[in-house]
Amino acid sequence: MRTPFIAGNWKLNKTIGESQSFAREFAPLVQDVEGVQVALFPVFTAISALKTALGDSKVEVGGQDFYWKASGAYTGEVSLPLLEDAGASVVLLGHSERRGRFGVPEPDLEGEAGRVFGDSDHSVNKKLLAALCSSLTPIVCVGEILTERENGHTDAVVENQIVMALDGVDASQIARVVFAYEPVWAIGTGKTCEADEANRVCGVVRATVVAKFGLDAGDAVRIQYGGSVKPESARELLAMEHIDGALVGGASLKADSFAAIVRAAV
Ligand code: PGA
Repeated sequence: MRTPFIAGNWKLNKTIGESQSFAREFAPLVQDVEGVQVALFPVFTAISALKTALGDSKVEVGGQDFYWKASGAYTGEVSLPLLEDAGASVVLLGHSERRGRFGVPEPDLEGEAGRVFGDSDHSVNKKLLAALCSSLTPIVCVGEILTERENGHTDAVVENQIVMALDGVDASQIARVVFAYEPVWAIGTGKTCEADEANRVCGVVRATVVAKFGLDAGDAVRIQYGGSVKPESARELLAMEHIDGALVGGASLKADSFAAIVRAAV
C-alpha cells in the first residue's frame, strides 16, 4: 500500500505572518487525519517560521527548489543542508515553472528573460542525485506543454523527462522518489486533466520506473497528479489506480480548501 501524499505548493505567495496564520488555521483541520503525508512548500524566507508555527502537527514543510551544491560561491542560491537546517523534510524539483514552462502564458518571460527559470533535464538530474544523498524526500515534477499534447507527444515527453531525471539513480534509492505528473496546460489555468487521462499518464510514469527498476520498484513509487486540483475534483483523481496524491497550487493557499483535499485522500 502506498501512503497518499498531498503537497501544497505556495509558489511566490504568503509572508511569514501569513504562513503562520495559515498554520494556526490548518493544523487543527487535519489533526485527526491518519495515513496521509501532507507537506507545505512556502517561500524560502518562511520555511523556518512555518515549521515552528506547525508545532507538533505532522504536516511537513519543504523547499520549492534548491541548488545541488551544499555551499560555495553561488550567489542567490539555497542548498539542501540549508533547507534541512530551516526545518524542511521534502523538496520540489523540476517544477514546470522552474523549467520556464508556464501553464498561463508569461509574455514577460519569453526568449532570453525566460532563462532566469532555467531548469533543464540535466539540472533536474543533478538535483535529484543530490537530494537522494540528503535526508529530504524529493518530488520530481514532469509534464507536457499544450503543443506537445496536441501533437501526440505527451507520453514520450513524460517518459523522457523521467529517464533523464533518473540517470545514475540506484535501485536502492528509487522508492524514496516521488513523482508529480503535472500537465503544464492544466497548471493555474483552471483546466483539470480528466481523471482517466491523468491516471493513464501516471501509469506511463509507473511503467517507466518499472522498465528501469522492475515491478516492485514501480509498485512502491508514489505518483502525484498536479494541475488545478480543487476540493471538488480531488476525490475522483485520488481514487485512480496510479494517482497516489496531489501537488496543489492555488487551492493550497486557503486552509479550508487544502484541508478538504487532504481529507479526500483518506
Ligand atoms: P495549480 O498549481 O494547482 O494552481 O494549478 C499546481 C502546481 O503548479 O503545482
